[in-house]
Amino acid sequence: MIAEIKNELEKIKAECINQIAQTDSSTALYNIKVQFLGKSGKLTAQLKNLRNFSDDDKKIIGQVVNQVKADLENEFSKKEKALYSIELEKKLQNEKIDITINRPGFIMGKPHPLDVLLKRINSFFVANGFIIQETREIETSFYNFDALNTPADHPAREAQDTFFLEGGAGNILLRSQTSTGQIRYMQENKPPIKLISPGRVYRADEVDATHTPCFHQLEGLVVAKGINMGHLKGTILEFMKFLFDEKTKIRFRPSFFPFTEPSVEVDASCFSCKDGNIDPACKICKGTGFLEIMGAGMVNRQVLKNVEIDPDEYSGFAFGMGLDRVMAILHGINDARVSFEGDIRFLKQF
Ligand code: DAH
Repeated sequence: MIAEIKNELEKIKAECINQIAQTDSSTALYNIKVQFLGKSGKLTAQLKNLRNFSDDDKKIIGQVVNQVKADLENEFSKKEKALYSIELEKKLQNEKIDITINRPGFIMGKPHPLDVLLKRINSFFVANGFIIQETREIETSFYNFDALNTPADHPAREAQDTFFLEGGAGNILLRSQTSTGQIRYMQENKPPIKLISPGRVYRADEVDATHTPCFHQLEGLVVAKGINMGHLKGTILEFMKFLFDEKTKIRFRPSFFPFTEPSVEVDASCFSCKDGNIDPACKICKGTGFLEIMGAGMVNRQVLKNVEIDPDEYSGFAFGMGLDRVMAILHGINDARVSFEGDIRFLKQF
């Protein structure tokens, strides 16, 4: 009898161990545990059978049952631990939160080539003792024309037709040139004066590849005792060498501006036609060997009088340059609109 029961208990144990081994969820494991070790479980049923045996047999069988129970409990606890860590891992995987954001590609901004150019130019003049004077874009006729020796009936006004503001009685306008900066500064400051005045200017032009109603200029002004054309030439030559390259030469052609006398147009030798060998097919200078860069001259005596500076005591030179044009020359750009359209395809190239 005992041997039979022992045998039966071994079978129960083997079956239980087999089921434990095959299960892969803790809920199923718990059910197995109830099925074998629970109140009405298979092992418990064997214990209940004990009442039919003698006390001695009870002892022996009881020991075996307890041993089987202890072995099985041990098996369950091992499996519980194993399943716990597997299930925890699974749970962590499933509940994982993606804290990275899937954002669209980040586009890094860049300075506009016009700004880059202006910063470069500023650095040249500041290093040579010039101050940077930025003044207003909305001006009166006085600053834009009259004080610059261009009275109402002067034909030079036509070339600088600009936008007049409503309600300004034909007197308030968007400046057509940065030369206004000369007057604004000289009214407030006495010589010696060394300034550059960069900024936006306006003209009543239709937009096309070579005309825009808004563009950028750089004005220069030096007024002191004994300033002559040599100072103008030396300053411009150094500036042109800085802007293009060391080999750059300059050429002055006679010109006219109401606010300078004498007046010149300044050309710089083409930096692309190397060593003076002019390339007839050069896209930059169009085979001329020179690039038209700026207007300049000695400050007209009348302009000095207009700001109450004595022209017998002081003299000066001035120059004015189109920044958009210089940027276009330096980068081989053939469309003036890029300066203010903010076209991302253009900007991406720099
Ligand atoms: N203001 C002139 C223009 O817009 C450019 C210029 C020429 C400025 C000669 C000057 C100068 O200061 O001396 O066409």
